Amino acid sequence: MKDQFNRTINYLRISVTDRCNLRCVYCMPAEGVTPISHSEILSFDEIMEVVKKAVSEGVNKIRITGGEPLVRKNIVELVRMIAELEGVSDLAMTTNGILLPKYAIDLAKAGLQRVNISLDTTDPARYREITRLGDIDLVYKGIAAAREAGLNPIKINCVIKKSALEPDAQLVAKFCKENDLQIRYIREMDLENGQFWKVQGGDGGDCKTCNRLRLTSKGMIKPCLFSDLEYSVRELGAITALETALNEKPKNGTISKKNNFSGVGG
Ligand code: 5AD
Ligand code: SF4
Repeated sequence: MKDQFNRTINYLRISVTDRCNLRCVYCMPAEGVTPISHSEILSFDEIMEVVKKAVSEGVNKIRITGGEPLVRKNIVELVRMIAELEGVSDLAMTTNGILLPKYAIDLAKAGLQRVNISLDTTDPARYREITRLGDIDLVYKGIAAAREAGLNPIKINCVIKKSALEPDAQLVAKFCKENDLQIRYIREMDLENGQFWKVQGGDGGDCKTCNRLRLTSKGMIKPCLFSDLEYSVRELGAITALETALNEKPKNGTISKKNNFSGVGG
């Protein structure tokens, strides 16, 4: 599909839950977010209706995000349902890695191709500080599990304050080099104040070449992370919600008062 500005839209990011087993300081308040009630969260059938329509319109790249996608019940089944669709050539997940030892093999068998794993430092105490609850050894085990399962490439998402030269980022860079992992630096964003940046080592945040739409766990299609525009799948139906989001996709991001990373998935 093409939007009004002649950008080809071939990438759908699906947030399957707003919940997370960590509480990263830049993403969530210490007490976590009020979880969305079960009835508000799209069922797998509802998600698949959107995915099927999007794929029939030319989406071939899909990423599953959260919150933390691996805390969604039966996530492996959803991966399988998406992987079985003809036309999906790239199926990825963004995860904090904590649950990968449990799921990596099943995810790979179900058809997940690759993962991005969040890691902002390799200093265990700093990791605990940033994530408020995380044990870095579990992430290392998660990375190893992803590798053993054949998920490839494994990319590391490293959130930085301002620069890739910050000490934490440099530690992660060294770790990635030693372990043959790709690194992407994501500068901390402030959606409410319109502060967003291009991803270094990735292609997010570049409005001119933006190829994505987002589906939130509550069933909103969002044409842009840095905008409050959203179209409800439940109210409008999958087809109209998708078409409207495509037609209303803004030329540039500006600010978003409503979006947050735990609900929209970055
Ligand atoms: N700024 C930039 N990226 C963020 N993420 C979460 N909160 C923010 C923020 N404020 C992204 C990180 C993390 C992923 C799950 O979401 O990249 O790795
Ligand atoms: Fe969880 Fe990712 Fe948010 Fe951290 S950034 S709290 S891992 S969703």
